[in-house]
Amino acid sequence: MFNFLRAFALVVLFTAPAFAQNADRPAVPLTGFNPDKAEVHANEVLVPGLIGTKAVEGHIVIPDIRSATLIQPDGRIWRDYRRGPLLWIAAAAVLGMGGLLLAFYVLRGKIMIEGGRGAAVIKRFGSFERFMHWLTAFSWCILALSGLNIAVGRVTLLPLLGNETFTALSVWLKYSHNFVAFPFMAGVLLMLVVWVRHNIPNRIDVTWFKMAGGLVGHQHPDSGKFNGGQKMVFWVVVLGGLGLSITGLGLLFPFTVTGILGMQLVQVIHGGIALGMIAAMLGHIYIGSVGMEGAIDAMKDGVVDLGWAKTHHNLWVAEELAKSPHAAE
Ligand code: HEM
Repeated sequence: MFNFLRAFALVVLFTAPAFAQNADRPAVPLTGFNPDKAEVHANEVLVPGLIGTKAVEGHIVIPDIRSATLIQPDGRIWRDYRRGPLLWIAAAAVLGMGGLLLAFYVLRGKIMIEGGRGAAVIKRFGSFERFMHWLTAFSWCILALSGLNIAVGRVTLLPLLGNETFTALSVWLKYSHNFVAFPFMAGVLLMLVVWVRHNIPNRIDVTWFKMAGGLVGHQHPDSGKFNGGQKMVFWVVVLGGLGLSITGLGLLFPFTVTGILGMQLVQVIHGGIALGMIAAMLGHIYIGSVGMEGAIDAMKDGVVDLGWAKTHHNLWVAEELAKSPHAAE
């Protein structure tokens, strides 16, 4: 995390826009070469651009000095990344992870409650916990879908929908991406405050991971309110959410903290974190829904089957029963 923040600070430092200094600068830095020459090499006309990176600048008379930028050669690297590697990374995150989960489902099947559902249930999450979970989950889903459209919509949806429909859809998705970012950030913050005390890693988690959480084989490792895998999900959401928020705000208010090169770098980082998180959350959504019988009850009604809870969160059940013998009924 520290490294990420340091890298982000470096990006900001080295790519900060030079608008303040450039405000009074003549917008025509075209000196030192002959524009009538039959051939002008791009390097001859590159100047420290008004957008915070080297660029080919033209002459403008309107106040928005950024419009004077004609060509930003570094931008080609960014564009090539978006047209090539990004598409493969997105495919790996969505289709790769989807394929793995499907294979897991086929090989292992749904994880059933051992001995079937019983009559007794135990309260797992209060209504506020469920509210913050679904606030984060719904807003994250909208952000993931609209973000994927920004990343790969041109090669996936455009050929299917045609220009007009794709444009209309993309405009809506872009607006939702901008605005839904705020409930998502609020949800992540709430989760951090409410759940952090249950998510501090400890020795029990090491054993949990060594036993692969009981998924492989039929033995169940000890677990408190959240097991090792869930703690990992929690930190992916909190740290990934923080990374997405910082980089996302940088993009939402363009040219505020960094110039164009910085924004291109920030966008690559934003997309990278998002795709990593999409892969991780697909796993979470799978195990929280079709992958495991009884799991979804926790986020639906707030109560879970006592047998399920004893199997997957034995130490937590013991704690709850110690607090109140009526915790399960
Ligand atoms: C949309 C489909 C989703 C479903 C069906 C789902 C389901 C669940 C369930 C059943 C639990 C409680 C597990 C338990 O009782 O132990 C849970 C917990 C949690 N969910 Fe979700 N969830 C979804 C999406 C998300 C998203 C998008 C996020 C964050 C971006 C998220 C973050 C969390 C976190 C941090 C926890 C606590 C840790 C954990 O149980 O892994 N969920 N979810």
